[in-house]
Amino acid sequence: MRGVEMVLTAVLLCGLGVLLGYTEADLVLAGGGLADDNADVYGTIVDLAGGPGVANIGIITTASADPLDSATFYQDLFINTYGAASATWIAVTETSGNADTQEIYDLVMAQSGLFFGGGDQARIMTAWRRPNGSASLGMSAIIALEAGGGVVAGSSAGAACQGNGPMLEGGLSYQALRYGAYAGGYNPDYPDDLCYDELGGLGLLPGYIVDTHFSERGREGRLMKLLLDTEFSGRGLGVDENSAVHIDSNGTAKVLGTAGGVLVVDVSSVEMLDGDYSHFNNATVSYYSEGDVFSTKNDEYVMAEWKSDLTGNEYSQYAPTSSNIFSSPDANHREYGVFRLMSTLLWDSKELSSVHDTYEKNPSFVVTLNKGDGGAYGGYSTSTAVWTISYHRMTVDVNYL
Ligand SMILES: *[C@@H]1O[C@H](CO)[C@@H](O)[C@H](O)[C@H]1NC(C)=O
Ligand SMILES: *[C@@H]1O[C@H](CO)[C@@H](O)[C@H](O)[C@H]1NC(C)=O
Ligand SMILES: *[C@@H]1O[C@H](CO)[C@@H](O)[C@H](O)[C@H]1NC(C)=O
Repeated sequence: MRGVEMVLTAVLLCGLGVLLGYTEADLVLAGGGLADDNADVYGTIVDLAGGPGVANIGIITTASADPLDSATFYQDLFINTYGAASATWIAVTETSGNADTQEIYDLVMAQSGLFFGGGDQARIMTAWRRPNGSASLGMSAIIALEAGGGVVAGSSAGAACQGNGPMLEGGLSYQALRYGAYAGGYNPDYPDDLCYDELGGLGLLPGYIVDTHFSERGREGRLMKLLLDTEFSGRGLGVDENSAVHIDSNGTAKVLGTAGGVLVVDVSSVEMLDGDYSHFNNATVSYYSEGDVFSTKNDEYVMAEWKSDLTGNEYSQYAPTSSNIFSSPDANHREYGVFRLMSTLLWDSKELSSVHDTYEKNPSFVVTLNKGDGGAYGGYSTSTAVWTISYHRMTVDVNYL
């Protein structure tokens, strides 16, 4: 009976959100590799949870291989570095079997914010979702807390579980383009294949599949391919390392941190072409970086005020090309963030497109980046003095030879 009441409370809170003009509340999604001193990210989480001295942060380390150790680390960080009033470990692990209890429901609801640590997102869903796919009491509490105005934050696996689309569980861009996407989750026999959980994640970010460690590990190909193969009607959101995006109750998203940004991937205008392997045109991607604001619900954006339109002011005549566009781990020296670098250098050149291919051959995928009717902005960061570029609506064509 109590459980039914709690689920009803969640429904009522969601209903209240709808009445007030929003259907979701604050989310902070980080791409992994968060530096302890990334105050833009951690400080924002504490502020959204009520501020220093007030915030009660629930620490969820279900994704971790060592949940207690990970929880101790985050408790120390949130309390001693960022001034949270409390940081309480919500002790749900892959094997604890307690997510569907009143005790965990109450503990989650007693917080003003939640932070999900990294590891493996499959552990989160195994623990928090019931075997029949419905939400446990604890998972209902997570949803109710957020709908009622609490902040839910996560990094790496803790962010990748927040979408409502098919949840990514692994895979490399090359293998994704060559072999396609596999439902049923991670398969140890094919560790490099693109795999996903068709039941989805926690669902706090409707209309999105979330990916992390994004530009660094060259995950652009796998996110495009997952969207295409699952025919998910939403978009992809790829978050870079030591960076995050804060999405408020209106779907207004702000990039946090100075290290990277987020790539929004939209395959709704893709033209599928014939062939034995991935062959398509016109995937649309937008890259937002430090200080930019964009909508998760439409195409609106406002770039950081210190960035200005690059049109006519591009630095170079020519754009470079790469034969390792997805930062293959098989290359002798792993190059991180190749797609991000090649795309920003294209926008800072006079050329209209640049052509790249994958490190892996037979087949080799040919990836063409096109400016099309998109636009780009650049400027020297007011916090780091680093030249930083953002772009809106670049199109990507994929073919093979
Ligand atoms: C799933 O299982 C729970 C009990 O664990 C039950 O209350 C619920 O009705 C089930 N949902 C579905 C959709 O079968
Ligand atoms: C959401 O939009 C409404 C209406 O424009 C506005 O009143 C409200 O302040 C916005 N909320 C946030 C968190 O920006
Ligand atoms: C490519 O997609 C854009 C929208 O992103 C659309 O306006 C355009 O017509 C498409 N181009 C082709 C050739 O399909």
